[in-house]
Amino acid sequence: MKLLKHLFDRNLEWADEIKRKEPGFFSKLSRQQAPEYLWIGCSDSRVPANQIVDLPPGEVFVHRNIANVVVHTDLNCLSVIQYAVDVLKVKHIIVCGHYGCGGIKAAMDRTEHGLIDNWLRHIKDVGRLNVEELRGLGHEEKLDLLCELNVKEQVSNVCNTTIVQNAWKRGIELAIHGWIYNIENGILKDLDACIT
Ligand code: CO
Repeated sequence: MKLLKHLFDRNLEWADEIKRKEPGFFSKLSRQQAPEYLWIGCSDSRVPANQIVDLPPGEVFVHRNIANVVVHTDLNCLSVIQYAVDVLKVKHIIVCGHYGCGGIKAAMDRTEHGLIDNWLRHIKDVGRLNVEELRGLGHEEKLDLLCELNVKEQVSNVCNTTIVQNAWKRGIELAIHGWIYNIENGILKDLDACIT
């Protein structure tokens, strides 16, 4: 018996629909991927990279983790960035956060969440680095602003990786963008944090 049969059924329908619209789509895609974008986003199920920007398979290389954090010692994230920049030669790296991020909320409350508290430390650092900007705001405003500040901080972290620094030194055209997504209306906002 196939487990989660409904998901396999949906998969067949989805693949058929794509093949009906564009015969040869999968065979063409199977030969190579050439995405222009690397998406670094939150693991949140409400923020699926391809769907938000309405792009089909093959167009976005994706890394997601809780609260879209780029940590300089995270081999997973760094490997994704390196492969995307050096091998796939993406032209844009998009760090996309979202309002209502559970990771940001959890970092700001004072309860314990287990292992993840170690990961959320990085968000607490963003709060500490921006303590003046966050001071005096109401709880919701503070969380929203921290979601934005976190994106900007992670954009800066991407820029400071040896991978991106070396790419720029080699004269490669590569832009790092900071975006935020509103889960209440499905709209993306550019935080004007783009660095080239
Ligand atoms: Co989130």
